[in-house]
Parts: sequence; C-alpha cells; structure tokens
Amino acid sequence: MKIEQVENYQEMSKYACDAIIDKVNSLQNPVLGLATGSTPEGVYNYLREENRNNRVTFRDTCTFNLDEYVGLAGDNPNSYRYYMNDRLFNHIDIPKQQTFIPNGKATDLSKECREYEQLLEDNQEIDLQILGLGLNGHIGFNEPGTSFKTRTHVVDLALSTREANARFFDSIEEVPNQAITMGIETIMNSKQILLLVSGERKAKALDQLLHGEVSEEFPASILKTHDNVKIIADKAALSKVR
Ligand code: F6R
Repeated sequence: MKIEQVENYQEMSKYACDAIIDKVNSLQNPVLGLATGSTPEGVYNYLREENRNNRVTFRDTCTFNLDEYVGLAGDNPNSYRYYMNDRLFNHIDIPKQQTFIPNGKATDLSKECREYEQLLEDNQEIDLQILGLGLNGHIGFNEPGTSFKTRTHVVDLALSTREANARFFDSIEEVPNQAITMGIETIMNSKQILLLVSGERKAKALDQLLHGEVSEEFPASILKTHDNVKIIADKAALSKVR
C-alpha cells in the first residue's frame, strides 16, 4: 500500500479526480468502481467540472457502484442510485445504461447479487476502484467479521454504520437494516484501488489500518495484500497515526 499525504479534503478530491481522468483517458473502455457517502462528493464535483471543460469524456466508461440499501428505489433521495445520479451521472456525458448499481428493490436479492457479479465479469472487472473507509474499517458495506472470500452479497448493517449514516435520513429508524454490497473478493479483484480518507473522524481507523494486522475484524486491512492500492489521506486523517 502506498500512501499519499495531502493537505486537506479539497486536495484529496483533486488528486483522486486527476487519477480517474488519467485512467479514463488511457483506456478504450474504462471500468470504474465508485463509492457514495461524504468522502467522494468533492471528487464528483471536480469530475463534473473537468467533463464540462472537455478534459475528459465518459462516453465509453462503465461504472459499478459498491453498494445499495435494500428496500430503497432509485427515486428515493436516500438511495445510492439517486445519490450517484444527483452528484455525478446527471451532470456528465456518461450514458446512464453504462452505470450499474445493485437494485435494492429486487424481489430476489440473491439473484440480483449473482447478476451483478456476472455483469462485472462481462465487463472485464474494474480498472480503478474508489473506496471510502468506514469508522469500523468497513469497505463497501462489508462489516467487521465478513469473510475475505465474499462476492456481491446481502449484509445486515452494523448499528454503528446505521448511526453514522443516519445524518442523511430524518431519523435512524429510517436507515435500512440491510444492503447489497460488492464482496471483499469482488473489491480485491479490481486492478487498482484508491482509498480516500479525510478528517479527524477517520484518524483512528486509519491508524488501525496502517498498524493493525490483516484481519476479518477490520475489513480494510485486506487492502494490504493487494499490489496496487494507494491511500490518499489528508493531514487530519493522519493526525493519530503512530
Ligand atoms: C459507500 C460505501 C462506504 C463508505 C464509508 C465511508 O458506497 O461503500 O463504505 O465509503 O462508509 O463513508 P463516508 O465517506 O460517508 O465517511
């Protein structure tokens, strides 16, 4: 794992935006893995701007999101499909049919998971995956204790994750109990991974990642065994690193 230290959130976002643009511009049919949450919002703002300025086109890009809440339809403002359309896809030149997010309203969730894996395989896997870091070390919605061997699956969300995400909902009761997420093995199949970490809130988790052992109790620790991972962390996130 390499680590790139940047000053602040804006610098982290710009760095990731440039890495995505370089990747997209270097491949004929790039496949991006994308995340939601607070961390990548700045990256998506920069990508919108760069697309507007014609520095990059997404016409031939495919995207796969990490996860989606079970039970939320794409037009629900708290769904990750809504988030992605709102923050990025509605503002860039990517054809919507090239953007994939698990369907949280699928009647057969196991089938949905299998089909998502198949789609990834059909698209030759992910060239560049963007990840955020959960306070408990989760990546995607793979909570502590998840097997490193998982592919796309349905998960029960940890209370701490539901609490952390309750800020987007009217109350914690409204945060779904389950999600569909790419598995850890699915994420590890990505050719390249950028893990974005910003703010003091994440400092303890980042310290644990850098100094703890590789363990299913801290899902992000598996990234240490991938040969092309870069962490982009700002000063605040690195403030508790031993
Ligand atoms: C989002 C995702 C999660 C988040 C993580 C950090 O698609 O899969 O793993 O990346 O929970 O969330 P934020 O960025 O809101 O701190």
